Amino acid sequence: MAALRIAVFASGNGSNFQAIADAVREGKLDASIELLVCDKPGAPVTERAQREGVETWLFTPKSYPSREAYEADILAELRRRNVELVVLAGYMRIITPVLVEPYYGRMINIHPSLLPAFPGIGGIRQALEYGVKITGVTVHFVDGGMDTGPIIAQRAVEVLDGDTEETLAERIHKAERELLPHVVQFIAEGRVELNGRHASIRQ
Ligand code: GRF
Repeated sequence: MAALRIAVFASGNGSNFQAIADAVREGKLDASIELLVCDKPGAPVTERAQREGVETWLFTPKSYPSREAYEADILAELRRRNVELVVLAGYMRIITPVLVEPYYGRMINIHPSLLPAFPGIGGIRQALEYGVKITGVTVHFVDGGMDTGPIIAQRAVEVLDGDTEETLAERIHKAERELLPHVVQFIAEGRVELNGRHASIRQ
């Protein structure tokens, strides 16, 4: 089976990008990262991509008249490279139908909470402030809403007494780095099925 051609979208640190790149390099993930899409010049993820030999498509949202306009350019890039799966990994922008529609069922996002609890930005802080005892991470298909798409996989992370945003984030990020490459591998193996709101992983 040919490696799954993926694009990663990220705006910041890129620890999830790194987890995917590591899994590919170590032969644990049957995929190739065809492109990093990034909206923040100088974001650490762009250095990671350079080190991994992954090309970055860097854009400045402000230089476009609308979200739809830059997404049309992104879509053209994805198509040119025959990208089969888009992985949003810390991409801090809303996605419009320009990208969601052609990639529905082939675009996933990682979110640092057990959705549908604590969507949007600051999922870790929201959980801590609310006082939940268990939070976690979610990988889901992307639909038109904010972190609302069909859930593929989740992993629980316990909130410990005395946790700060930093200490909790450390364990959340560790869980993300473990879960995301696994889910991408399940997709590469063609084992993830989507029926309406329900995504399942075939054994
Ligand atoms: C992660 O916590 C992810 O769940 C969220 O943004 C963060 C990105 O971290 N969507 P990184 O850039 O991959 O290190």
